[in-house]
Amino acid sequence: MKQVIIDTDPGPDDGVAILTALGSPLIEVLGICAVAGNVPLHHTARNVRKILELAERQDVKAFAGAEAPLARPLFTAEYVHGKTGFDGYDLPEPTMPIQPQHAADFIIQEVMSRPAKSITICAFGPLTNLAMAIERDGRVAGRIDQIVWMGGALSEGGNVTPAAEFNCYVDPEAAARVLSSGARIVMMPLDVTHKAHVTADRIERFRTMGNKVGPIFARLLTYAKRFDWQKYGANRAPMHDPTTVVWVLRPELFSGLPVNVEIETNSPLTTGMTVIDWWGVTNRQKNAYVVRDVDAESFYDVIFESFGRLP
Ligand code: BDR
Ligand code: CA
Repeated sequence: MKQVIIDTDPGPDDGVAILTALGSPLIEVLGICAVAGNVPLHHTARNVRKILELAERQDVKAFAGAEAPLARPLFTAEYVHGKTGFDGYDLPEPTMPIQPQHAADFIIQEVMSRPAKSITICAFGPLTNLAMAIERDGRVAGRIDQIVWMGGALSEGGNVTPAAEFNCYVDPEAAARVLSSGARIVMMPLDVTHKAHVTADRIERFRTMGNKVGPIFARLLTYAKRFDWQKYGANRAPMHDPTTVVWVLRPELFSGLPVNVEIETNSPLTTGMTVIDWWGVTNRQKNAYVVRDVDAESFYDVIFESFGRLP
């Protein structure tokens, strides 16, 4: 059983990732941390609780973290996900509480109170909360088993600017701090999420799942993907965030390389770019395992299997 903390800014693809974890008998979700990203924190913190209540998992605690990136104003993506982050379906207002503890302190508490290398962090928003945790307690990075982060891009180019992927663009200083922390990091860049397209057929599989959660996500994904469909061509759009959770369950479905990754934080043209030394042309330290490929069919099987166990 893998013990996992989720750090997220939901968003429908975040929702699919969270539900894939909650539906798996092989993952124990220790808590879910909200961060500002796709939409402001008050929406992401509410969306985390909406998903937990949808999954009937009020036993899992929800935490709110950073309201803004470490060193710059928040850039959000309402143009993709709508004002609330979940505009495609009107989920009921949540009634479960948000915990009083800051998400960064929850991460520190869990990592420090459990055996070293026992916790995986699946992060699929800007890395602000995690950078704060690592900064507040220098021991945290070395005690995490692995951080699996959806972020960055290798050769696909960016999805916010020509150079930068959204999660890295929003808080490049946080990404830089986490990547230089010495923690074991697995990175899921756009190069892999662009190989895991959600198509009309796959949305149909959500819709006809025969439970409550599947059809709701068919609606949410259809809404969010209206934007991507203009961009990637009709009938397909990347499914970003579940790559992190599926990695925890079935790492053999992915392939990549241990490499050096540095984050551009200064250039007006390329801020948030992940500079990945794929060919080993520098002798900089390998600080992340960067994934480049996935068996998309099996990836969706894992998601559907988890969703099938949900109410
Ligand atoms: C990332 O940006 C967000 O909009 C998605 O949820 C995903 O985490 C993809 O660039
Ligand atoms: Ca996300």
